[in-house]
Order: sequence, then C-alpha cells, then structure tokens
Amino acid sequence: MKFSSKMEACGLSPMRKFAPYALKAEQKGRKIYHLNIGQPDIETPPVFFDAVRDFSQPVLAYAPSPGVPVLLDAIRDYYGKIGAKIASDNILISTGGSEALQMLLASILDDGDEIVIPEPFYPNYSTFVTLTGATIRPVTTRPEEGYRFAVRERIEACINEHTRAILFTNPGNPTGTVLTAEELKLLADIAKEHGLFLIGDEVYREFVYGGEPLMSLLQLEGYDENVVVVDSVSKRFSACGARIGCMITRNRELYNQAMKWCQGRLCASTLDQVASAALYSVGPEYFEAVREEYRARKDALTEGLKKIPGVVYSHPEGAFYVMAALPVDDAEKLQIWMLEEFEDAGETLMFTPAESFYKTPDTGRNEIRMAYVINREDIRRSMELLAKGIEAYNSCG
Ligand SMILES: Cc1ncc(COP(=O)(O)O)c(C=O)c1O
Repeated sequence: MKFSSKMEACGLSPMRKFAPYALKAEQKGRKIYHLNIGQPDIETPPVFFDAVRDFSQPVLAYAPSPGVPVLLDAIRDYYGKIGAKIASDNILISTGGSEALQMLLASILDDGDEIVIPEPFYPNYSTFVTLTGATIRPVTTRPEEGYRFAVRERIEACINEHTRAILFTNPGNPTGTVLTAEELKLLADIAKEHGLFLIGDEVYREFVYGGEPLMSLLQLEGYDENVVVVDSVSKRFSACGARIGCMITRNRELYNQAMKWCQGRLCASTLDQVASAALYSVGPEYFEAVREEYRARKDALTEGLKKIPGVVYSHPEGAFYVMAALPVDDAEKLQIWMLEEFEDAGETLMFTPAESFYKTPDTGRNEIRMAYVINREDIRRSMELLAKGIEAYNSCG
C-alpha cells in the first residue's frame, strides 16, 4: 500500500513516544511521576457538567458549522473584557485548538510555502504544517537568552518570497516565555510590512506569573488583515477532553476560506460547545486561584532544578512548562534509561526530551520539557528523581 508522502514525513508525538517504555516500567511495579504531558489535574469547573446534565433537547443535532451562538457570544464577551473588540462572526469554533490550527494552516499554506516559527515549538505544529505541503523556517532561540525571538533582524532573515505567516505560542509552550506589548507590536509591524499572517496561539493566555495580564494579539489595532488567534478551553478551564477551541480573525477573506473546512467537517461537538459556553461564566477568582496554584508548582520545580549541578534553564513567565538543558549527552537516552534501568525507592520520572521541539537538526539533544501539572509534593520528589537519575546515568558511562 502507498501512503501519503506528507503523512510519512510527519513524526509521532514526543509526548507519547515513550509510553511503551513507561508501560513496561509500570509492569515491573515502578511508580512513575509524569512531567511529560500537559494534562492539568485541576478540576474542571462544575458548571460544565451542570450544563451537560441540563441539556434538554430531544435530539442531539448538528450545530451550525461556525459554532453554537451561545458559545460564539461567550468568547466575544471574554475578549471584550480584555479590551479586544471582536464580533461573534470573527470566530470559528473547532475541535480543540488543534483543529483551529489545521483549518487555519490549510487555508493559508500551499506546497512550497514557508511559515516562520520560533523554535523550540509545540511539535504538533510540524505535523499540521507538513500536511499542507509547506515547511517551517525556524528562528532558533536559546535558554541563555530566555528563548526570546522578537528581534527584527532575526525574523526578517527568515522571510523570503515563499513566506506566508509567522506563528508563535504566547505564553510559550515549551518555553514559558511571554511576549511584551512592544514585541507583539514589532511582530505585527513586520507581518504587515511583508504581507504575512501573524498567528498567536494563546491557549495558555490565563497562565502568566509576572502580575500583568497577557496582551492578546487581538488587542493590537491596525492589523486586522494580518492577525489570527488560536484559542481553546482545554488549558484555560482544565477541560482538555471537551475538545473545543476556536480560530479568531477579523480578516473576512480568511474567515470565508476557513469556513469551507468548517462546513466540510460539519461542526464541532454540539454538547461540548454548549457546556463550554457555561465555562465562560466563571469569574476572575477562578483564574486567580488556578494561577496561584501553578505559580507555587513552578516555584517548587525551579527550586529543585536550581539545585542540580550543570542544569541551564530559563525562568518561565507563563504557561505551565519549563525547558531545561541537562548535563547529559542525550535526553532521550536518559529518559529510556530512567524507565528501563533506574529507580529510587521503586520510583522514576517521565519528562519530554526536547529534540523534536526543534526543526534544526542536532539541536536541543540535551534539553527536556517538564509540565508542572502535578501537585507540589510530587514535583519536589520529581526533581529529586531527576537529580539522582542524571548522576547515576552519567556515572554508568
Ligand atoms: C501550544 C498549543 N497549542 C495548541 C494545543 C492544542 O490544544 P487543544 O487541541 O486541546 O485545544 C496545545 C495542546 O497542548 C498546545 O500546547
């Protein structure tokens, strides 16, 4: 059988790739601490489940292709409160932020096109771009410089006649970097001058730890043709299984193009859309409490990391990830070894080796990403296991 060359060019998710090793370790009775997957343990607000119970339609029908009005309006109002004026018909509801990325990239990229993305980046970007026939032009960033990339010369060095868009996650997955208003404006100016889409993946928007709320790309004025935002309820409301996200743009032509995808896939889940609309009724105190919990976890993780000799990391400003360069030859080998050979009191650790967060070959081989989505006590223990694991791995040559 012949398979699509585009699909064959895609890789498996680095977050899920080590699952078979983990299964074997668990079969041997090992307890594994999971810092590898961004699945929050925070409870989903009960209003979601109440809305599911209260759903009283006799038929679970298709929703309108762009989304159910109650959810579109809830998202419009959410943005209105942060000073971003959008209309309900600037929004297309998708099956998670993942589908929003797919419909957007399928709308703007062709064979041979390029998209500029700072690396390290969320690896599924690579899958979604590759399936369009386009390629990623990475802007390489380093932990020593806080993974910052919004520098005119660096971005413009990556732009050529094939470039169609610039895409970044803000706050960053995997870097935790938060862009300043000046950086966003600079990127928007560059996008406008070069006639490019500027795509902000803001699925981690509520998780910023510097005191100031995140500035959304949608708050910038004068860039309506360029700006696109990808959003989701997954992380914001700890509702990953709802699979509800959206693409937001004031660019009417782009909206109309992406609508063809929306109509092709018919609609996102009706019941999950209705229940997700209810999520938007939670007040600011919900986000404050969740943010404080993540802040404490971040501090527990970086406190532990600081004590491990030879580790380089950039203090995360947002999202719930920390990237770190370890004093080992190869983080993937370390992960496999920690699952197959290592244990401390019957326990071991999973993280995400970060090489596949980079497009540039042979980059990030000794780096890992850790998601602080487990409780503080477990995070402290995880850092002990990491320290012991690195020491034992290096001493067995
Ligand atoms: C940066 C980023 N964008 C998009 C997504 C997609 O999330 P979902 O499809 O659950 O909305 C994720 C999930 O981890 C992510 O980390």
